Amino acid sequence: MVYYIRFLKTPRLQKQKTGAQSISALICIATDLGDAFLAQDVDLLVTLGLDQSEKILYQEPLRWSAGKRELPITLGPFPPHVSAQPIVLSVAATDGNRKRSRTSFADRQLLGQPDVPLVVSGWSAPFGGPEGLVAEKLVERRLELPGNLDLRIWEETGNSIARHIWDAALASVIYLQQIATGASSTPILQNLLQSQRNRPLNVIELGSGCGIVGIALAEMLPNSSVLLTDLPEVEEIVTQNIAVAKPTEASKLEFRTLDWDGALPENLCSGSIDLILVSDCTYNADSLPALVSVLSRLVQMSPEAIILVALKRRHDSETIFFDLMREAGLSNLHQDNLQIPSEHDQVDQIELYSYGINKDAQHS
Ligand SMILES: C[S@@+](CC[C@H](N)C(=O)[O-])C[C@H]1O[C@@H](n2cnc3c(N)ncnc32)[C@H](O)[C@@H]1O
Repeated sequence: MVYYIRFLKTPRLQKQKTGAQSISALICIATDLGDAFLAQDVDLLVTLGLDQSEKILYQEPLRWSAGKRELPITLGPFPPHVSAQPIVLSVAATDGNRKRSRTSFADRQLLGQPDVPLVVSGWSAPFGGPEGLVAEKLVERRLELPGNLDLRIWEETGNSIARHIWDAALASVIYLQQIATGASSTPILQNLLQSQRNRPLNVIELGSGCGIVGIALAEMLPNSSVLLTDLPEVEEIVTQNIAVAKPTEASKLEFRTLDWDGALPENLCSGSIDLILVSDCTYNADSLPALVSVLSRLVQMSPEAIILVALKRRHDSETIFFDLMREAGLSNLHQDNLQIPSEHDQVDQIELYSYGINKDAQHS
């Protein structure tokens, strides 16, 4: 299981009687579901920097110890002008190889080089500055994928299921990137992601949450048209992420609400769909019939579409998903597993399935 640095209290400035300023925040290191805290010691580096220029103003080591549920951060006192311009606080895990201090906020956290990190670092929203900004209840992930791909994704700090990044999403991003760059071979997806096309690759993501998977794809693939979909509750955060995304030339990113329990919106996609992304959407057995029904309707509209389903098994009831897919005539064309780290040098598996209509089976 991957662990995420979260702000229980986002950073705030406190003015002292002398005019000096101190900064306080409260963090925890918890799983995607927020149901468990990291139960091993880890060295952290807290960094205060300028939002615009990414210049580092101050750094301090900190330690998270096993058994903790929260960790206060108190920095300062600093001279009054520390917050003359908007500032940002980051909390990063340092490991044996990366103990060096960073010289700039421009250092992203490496993802998929070759692994997912055990602890995902967090950057606060900007605060201070001439307008006395208060840090929004958000945390930003700044990730760097092989090929200098710079992925920035905002999450909410609260306990929402939808407005967070989930482990299968991190694995999906790495998996898609490996296939798109030829570092891994999965013939069905390779045909889609590597071939030259005279029209955009049409991609739709269901239950996109913050949008990390679809956004990463639009940033790595030329000429792709990626439609992120989810319930209305994610619209604000996903729109914020789309606004800061850097899709490749001629690529397009959009969001539309799509509730699996409702009718498919009219004119959902222009042209037929090539790829349907589904990451960590199978954890709730009650919603699986509706999810599979949407998948089945989309594939009826676009019979050539490939569905990439990424999941981390959380309980046995999820197996019903595979039965429902079979009953809907959707075949598992390929399966891969991607390892993600867990505490005490353990590993977890993310399962990645490519589904589609099995034409051989239809003709036999
Ligand atoms: C565990 S989150 C995964 C988010 C994202 N795909 C990721 O991996 O980071 C599951 C997502 O499914 C969405 N979802 C659940 N039920 C849904 C429904 N009936 N219609 C549309 N989306 C739904 C949630 O809103 C949430 O964003």
